[in-house]
Amino acid sequence: MTHPIIKVDSISKRFGGNQAVDRVSIDIPRGSILGLIGPNGSGKTTVLNMLSGELMPDEGRIFLEDLDITGKSPSSLVQLGVTRMFQMTKVFVRLSAIDNLLIAGQALGLKKEECHARADMLIKELTLEHVQYLDAAQLSGGQKKLLEFGMCFMVPPKVALLDEPFAAVHPVMRQTMSQFIKDRHQRGQTFLLVSHDMPIIKELCEQSVCMNAGKIIAHGKTKDVLDKAEVIEAYLGGDHE
Ligand SMILES: Nc1ncnc2c1ncn2[C@@H]1O[C@H](COP(=O)(O)OP(=O)(O)O)[C@@H](O)[C@H]1O
Ligand SMILES: [Mg+2]
Repeated sequence: MTHPIIKVDSISKRFGGNQAVDRVSIDIPRGSILGLIGPNGSGKTTVLNMLSGELMPDEGRIFLEDLDITGKSPSSLVQLGVTRMFQMTKVFVRLSAIDNLLIAGQALGLKKEECHARADMLIKELTLEHVQYLDAAQLSGGQKKLLEFGMCFMVPPKVALLDEPFAAVHPVMRQTMSQFIKDRHQRGQTFLLVSHDMPIIKELCEQSVCMNAGKIIAHGKTKDVLDKAEVIEAYLGGDHE
């Protein structure tokens, strides 16, 4: 097995009396789309928050390639190539779609010409040509999400962390989004994908990790993980959606 691009070594996070994440270790293989599943409240977002620097683990370490990135700020992690997709918080609503991409490219240090070229390419790839000059405020929820994908990929990150990217997105745009992920994966992009949508996890992720109550209860081939009795029980037992 090749060296993982991200190595999570026994991280934990407690909120008051609630052990949200309990000694979780995950290897994200280079070039994979690793699924992270588990019932509501199992700790998936908290793991992502620690990976993207929003939260500091109480214990454990996180490595990007061989670099210890535990506790680094979200902005320094973006510069290092660990990018988190939020639920639309990064879209500037008073700027046009294309300007949002240009701003994101500038922030990542792209030169003007390359910035324009990449923005044009991503607008096409994400089927946003017809709305590219509209203020982002006028875009639908799904279009905003596609735009945010584009912003994250102005400079392709080493690892893209996606938290429920398909939630509340129109099926047509969901299709565009999953095609975008597949195309990028073909070109070697690494993803960690949190989703409740099992058909999409099955389709996109060869390997998955399942959490329950802060702990990893299964990992391996997605179909084996989904078939495991502990996993089925976790979903049936919890307050699932
Ligand atoms: N900022 C926070 N403060 C207090 N409790 C939190 C916070 N974030 C998450 N939690 C708690 O941690 C647990 C895991 O939450 P979360 O990581 O959001 O789960 P998931 O993403 O799997 O639904 C839940 O019990 C949740 O209520
Ligand atoms: Mg969550």
